[in-house]
Amino acid sequence: MLRPFRQSDLGEVHAIEQVSQSAPWALEACARLLAQPAVKAMVWEQSDQIRGFVIYMRVGPEFEILDLVTHPGFRRRGIGRQLLAGVLELEAPGLESGYLEVRVSNLAAQGLYTLFGFKTFGRRVRYYSDNGEDALMMRWEK
Ligand SMILES: CC(C)(COP(=O)(O)OP(=O)(O)OC[C@H]1O[C@@H](n2cnc3c(N)ncnc32)[C@H](O)[C@@H]1OP(=O)(O)O)[C@@H](O)C(=O)NCCC(=O)NCCS
Repeated sequence: MLRPFRQSDLGEVHAIEQVSQSAPWALEACARLLAQPAVKAMVWEQSDQIRGFVIYMRVGPEFEILDLVTHPGFRRRGIGRQLLAGVLELEAPGLESGYLEVRVSNLAAQGLYTLFGFKTFGRRVRYYSDNGEDALMMRWEK
């Protein structure tokens, strides 16, 4: 069900991004991001349809979650959990820490990250330009 992202997934991934985020990435921005050498992605697929994806960056002993989304029709079925577990498993060799930013109001994502041991260590005030919302900075340590 969990597999590496392929270039041909871009349209489907972007469509899920569009219906999931209050300030979704444009297709070109998504494509540019995914083309960066340190950026990796995985998708969770069922019946040939992508239900969720994670985009992250791995540099040395650190990783950063850049985007993690489950299609709105398939939430609360463990897909987000499997995507995050997949990153931690695949990247385990040499991995020491991880980071991410999450909207203060996004209790679903904070709940997921907390399950995996991420802890809040800071706050970026008015970080999100679409609504001026603060970001919580969360960190995972091995
Ligand atoms: C955050 C998100 C990825 C979670 O995906 P999901 O597939 O529904 O998550 P899971 O079913 O694996 O849930 C795992 C755990 O996360 C927490 N969680 C998930 N959704 C939650 C919610 N709505 N409220 C509270 N906790 C929630 C729970 O602890 C849950 O475990 P449980 O179901 O045993 O209680 C999904 O809500 C989403 O795509 N949101 C929009 C995009 C987004 O905000 N991404 C994060 C960007 S930082």
